[in-house]
Formats: sequence, structure tokens, C-alpha cells
Amino acid sequence: MKLLFLNGVNLNMTGQREKGVYGTETLEQINAQLRAFCKERNVECDFFQSNLEGEICTKIQETDADGIILNAGAFTHYSYAIRDAIASVTTPVVEVHMSNVHKREEFRKNSVISEVCRGTILGFGKNSYILAAESFLL
Ligand code: DQA
Repeated sequence: MKLLFLNGVNLNMTGQREKGVYGTETLEQINAQLRAFCKERNVECDFFQSNLEGEICTKIQETDADGIILNAGAFTHYSYAIRDAIASVTTPVVEVHMSNVHKREEFRKNSVISEVCRGTILGFGKNSYILAAESFLL
């Protein structure tokens, strides 16, 4: 089993931006914890972050992972390109958000990718990634 943790636009700023919403740990620190989680379970893992929509699409198309854990950031709310990339592959994708997007601004309540994802986990901070990874191990 191999999992890809895929992060979209602005997730590289985690730990520096809106700390009250996304926490103080950097994406590197969170990814180190996810790597340890996977190692304990004999799961291979891969990590990729990009601020470029097309790079996220290419990664979805080209990954050899068995499952993708995707926090698309703001792309979630408007990227039909990422939605189509997910729909074009058979690799299951679990959508993740650290914050509870339903408690926030109106525009965050709509996800254009949810319909093509296996499921969605949101609102548990960095643990949203862990819970999404767990879903592939059930
Ligand atoms: C986010 C929520 C999005 O609305 C936002 O644009 C992000 C992060 C989250 O993890 O809570 O960049 O995906």
C-alpha cells in the first residue's frame, strides 16, 4: 500500500499563516508525523505540494500510489481542472481540510471536488490527514 499526501495552493505556508485556523506546525513537521504514522503501519508514502493547479493535476494523473489524500486548499472551491483530473483516474482520493470549512466564509462551503472523491474529512487540524490515511487501512 502506498499513499500520496498531496497539498495544493498556500499549504506551504502552514505554520506561518492564520495560525489560529491552521495551527503553528509547518507542513514539513506535519509530513514528518505522517511519515512516522505510515512507517508504523508498513505503508509507503509520498508527499507533494504545489501552488500550481496544473502540477496538482499532473501528480494526480501520474502517481503510482494506491490512494491520494488531497488538501487542495482554495482550489477545492473552484478548480474544475482538479475535479476532472480526479475523475480521470481510478486512484481513490480522499478530500481533506484542516479547518471546518462549514464554520467559515460562505465560499468555503462549496467543494467542486467532493463529488468525485471517495469521502471527505475536515475540521480535525493536522489529524484530518491521519484520519484520511486510516480510511485506506480499514
Ligand atoms: C483548507 C480550507 C480552504 O478553504 C483554504 O483555502 C485552505 C485550507 C483547510 O485545510 O482547511 O487553504 O483546505
